[in-house]
Amino acid sequence: MKELMIIIRPEKLEAVKDVLDKVHCGGMTLSTAMGCGTQKGASEGTVNEIKGFKTTINLLPKIKVEVVVEDKDVEEVIMNIRETCATDHVGDGKIFIRDIEDAIRIRTGERGVKAL
Ligand SMILES: Nc1ncnc2c1ncn2[C@@H]1O[C@H](COP(=O)(O)OP(=O)(O)OP(=O)(O)O)[C@@H](O)[C@H]1O
Ligand SMILES: [Mg+2]
Repeated sequence: MKELMIIIRPEKLEAVKDVLDKVHCGGMTLSTAMGCGTQKGASEGTVNEIKGFKTTINLLPKIKVEVVVEDKDVEEVIMNIRETCATDHVGDGKIFIRDIEDAIRIRTGERGVKAL
């Protein structure tokens, strides 16, 4: 199992939910977040500068979706998220992936992929 932490533009949330629904994910966790990437929150064609002085990092609203999926579904999710969220402009977001050792459905005690 792998956890995908998917950070997206807020307006892409509905489309991303549809992508995750297609792989029959068992669930997802969503948070609103503020963040910046390599541009430190400056939008395209602008710089974080006031009267010639560089300003501090600017955080922009993002949505963070965390979903744990079976290993076999990871590449499909990545491909579909990219198809859905890539706009060719900076700030489209990122996907971080980590291994999940085990999962437990609290109600039944099921473990591993059965708990997803
Ligand atoms: N290294 C990181 N660690 C944690 N969160 C990150 C990291 N990079 C990006 N993020 C999160 O992803 C959001 C979107 O990042 P963004 O798409 O701007 O990345 P980028 O590397 O600047 O790529 P691009 O050049 O396409 O804009 C950020 O606002 C932040 O919430
Ligand atoms: Mg960026």
